Amino acid sequence: MKEQLEAIRKSALDAGVETRTAVDLEAVRVRYLGKKGELTAVLKQMGKLSPEERPVMGQLANDVRAALEAAIESRSDALAQEAMAARLKAETVDVTIPGKKVEIGHKHPMYTVLDEIKEIFINMGFEVMDGPEIEQAEYNFTKLNAPENHPSRDWTDTFYLTEDSSILLRSQTSPMQIRAMETYGVPIRMISPGRVYRKDEVDATHSPMFHQIEGLVVDKGITMADLKGTLNAVIREIYGPNTKTRFRPHHFPFTEPSCEVDIQCHKCGGVGCPTCKGEGWIEVLGAGMVHPKVLRGCGIDPEVYSGFAFGMGLERLAMGQFKISDLRLIFENDMRFLSQF
Ligand code: PHE
Repeated sequence: MKEQLEAIRKSALDAGVETRTAVDLEAVRVRYLGKKGELTAVLKQMGKLSPEERPVMGQLANDVRAALEAAIESRSDALAQEAMAARLKAETVDVTIPGKKVEIGHKHPMYTVLDEIKEIFINMGFEVMDGPEIEQAEYNFTKLNAPENHPSRDWTDTFYLTEDSSILLRSQTSPMQIRAMETYGVPIRMISPGRVYRKDEVDATHSPMFHQIEGLVVDKGITMADLKGTLNAVIREIYGPNTKTRFRPHHFPFTEPSCEVDIQCHKCGGVGCPTCKGEGWIEVLGAGMVHPKVLRGCGIDPEVYSGFAFGMGLERLAMGQFKISDLRLIFENDMRFLSQF
């Protein structure tokens, strides 16, 4: 029995030392110290020994068990340490490697201009409103007093979304005049910037999609003088304090009287140059006194209230401010262009 125990001690210690993983080590433990293990099997035979031999072998068996347990525990610690070391090595982060450079974008030049304009109007007490780009013909035309045969209603000019011509991509931001008055009533002072769509041929100054800013003021006692004063003030904020303006009679179905506003060419000072196409003046917006029919259609009594409205193109403003020669550049998203601003 002594030889048996010594053999177990030796083979178990050898086997333990060779284990590479915690699972293997557990197998070794079960094989020798488990219920059906080799050491246990030997101990079961203790009963057969003589009374003199029994304590001696018992002592030896205990020594072997203690030795195996200690060896297994220390091997287990060693394996755990090795595993941790391997993991640390695998997960090492080299903090000295240069980081990935993140390209930080910036505002599109046209939105820079839009934000400036919004700021001007907000400082004058205007609210900023947002409206749908998919619009009803009712709002884009009818409630704006556009006659049934108005050329802009033609399918060759406007993008319709339904066969019956009732839904379309708005061709102007003016339907927001109606929506604002219907929703909020009077008095009202608002601007509404956004995209509009027209079937225009694409060239250096035309695109099928562009941006407008609509404006509307309705209150008691609003006159053409308010229109002129407000628009002159805004234009001088945008183009500089000495900018000369010209109000030309024009026609829009939803304003009466109507006008177009020009600024004297900032490039040539009015003499005529390529920027103003030799005119000396550049058209910047359309405006007028809100038509009584439009007010009445929105439930507002034109005998008590009056107002003015205006609409200006945003791209043209941005082109002027940033000296951009071709409208298409604004929409092409070419980084070589955009990163200049
Ligand atoms: N909606 C007109 C256009 O697109 C501009 C405009 C707006 C004119 C408001 C008068 C009043 O040309």
